[in-house]
Amino acid sequence: MSLSRRAKTLTALAATAIVLAPVAWIWQASLLPESYSIADMGRHDHGGHTGTDDASTVPVDALTVPDDREADVRATLTAARGTITLDSGRTVDGYTLNGTSPGPEIRAEQGQLVEVVLENSNVDEGVTLHWHGVDVPGAMDGAAGVTQDAVAPGDDFVYRFIADQVGTFWYHSHQVSHEQVFGGLLGPLVVTPAEGAAAADVDVVVLAHLYDGRRTVNGRDGTDHVDAPAGSTVRVRVVNTDFGVMPVWVDGAPFRVAAVDGTELHEPQQVEDVAVEVPAGGRGDLEFTVPPGGGVRVNLSASTALLVGDAPVEASIPPTETLDLLHYGTSAPIGFDPGDADREFEFGIDRRPGFLDGKPGFWWTVNGELVPEVPMFTVAYGDIVTMRIANDSGEAHPMHLHGHHAVVLSRDGVAATGSPWWVDSLEVRDGEVYEIAFAADNPGIWMDHCHNLPHAAEGLVAHLAYEGVSEPFLIGGPAGNRPE
Ligand code: C2O
Ligand code: CU
Repeated sequence: MSLSRRAKTLTALAATAIVLAPVAWIWQASLLPESYSIADMGRHDHGGHTGTDDASTVPVDALTVPDDREADVRATLTAARGTITLDSGRTVDGYTLNGTSPGPEIRAEQGQLVEVVLENSNVDEGVTLHWHGVDVPGAMDGAAGVTQDAVAPGDDFVYRFIADQVGTFWYHSHQVSHEQVFGGLLGPLVVTPAEGAAAADVDVVVLAHLYDGRRTVNGRDGTDHVDAPAGSTVRVRVVNTDFGVMPVWVDGAPFRVAAVDGTELHEPQQVEDVAVEVPAGGRGDLEFTVPPGGGVRVNLSASTALLVGDAPVEASIPPTETLDLLHYGTSAPIGFDPGDADREFEFGIDRRPGFLDGKPGFWWTVNGELVPEVPMFTVAYGDIVTMRIANDSGEAHPMHLHGHHAVVLSRDGVAATGSPWWVDSLEVRDGEVYEIAFAADNPGIWMDHCHNLPHAAEGLVAHLAYEGVSEPFLIGGPAGNRPE
């Protein structure tokens, strides 16, 4: 080799090394350890507050309801891997609870203590139950590696919480949730007002789920039916357990959206020919009166619907207009002043090329960073918190904060003028900016993530932690915790 040829080769090698070294370093830095605590993860963000650094802490699994109170509603749910048979006869591989998917409906009255024993029959990766939308005590949230260890085959876990909030909720596994929820490890939970309060004549859940590409309502790949005579009032509790937003529309009667995400709306007007968009994870309660001599069809898609009474079998085409909850109903006090917030957070969603745990890809970012460098939003009990969610990622994200309900203040700078719009699952479309506010009134360590669950598994996740609450669990670890 001539000298100049050799020099050229060396220069080329050196240049390659200069280019590759930082890439190798970035790759290396993206690798997640076998097990780690989310408390050590990410960027602690105090929301403009100087932390109090109170040394006394309580572990998140100590945040329970008192043991000595008797349960009012009890259920045992046994999780298993299995085959789900839809009413068309088609079978899908998935997960069942007590042999079915969706699992049994749990109903409680406001104020009752609900106690659910989760048993794992044979799900090797382990299972948990998260009470989506219920602001349970910190230890009961069911997030594997955050609030408990995943329940191994042959083991069980007891969930106890007081059903303080009236409304429509659901439960689902929060271990490997993008697979287990997809596979049907879920079910509905309804909390009704304590006896004596006015109720609809007919009160029914319609839970939408996509089993292996098949749209279903209450586990049926077609329509479900409920009897309701003309003149009766009907409340239909729509639960969207899918990964995408679901437009719901009603044929045959004007209706009101009585509640969103388990909170009653204030003076909702009667509407018709509009679609109500229920985000992934979200719920919408629709109320109407069955018209004389007719039925009502509540459409979840062109092929899935709830037929009420003597309803038309054919669906209409979905209305082009969508109900805007920012201006629906009338305003009412929200109970605190968001203008006087103690903490202000930014949840910026974007996307960029990089490595996620060593895998190259075009990954979601939170405030410009990839997992594990995502925010740990830190609050103190009693704080009033605002959060600005800005989505520049090119796709919509249904954002879900555990343990709290947040009220929407504005979207794209336009203030909310309708009923207080309390959410736990908020559809944030590409290019949108939402400002929300909540009271930090439920100590714990809470996930705050996209409910298009594959997105969460791809890194669209952050956490909200209370000062003084410590994290005894590990992601990974002996239990193999993988909450996303
Ligand atoms: Cu319904 Cu963290 O989820
Ligand atoms: Cu998403």
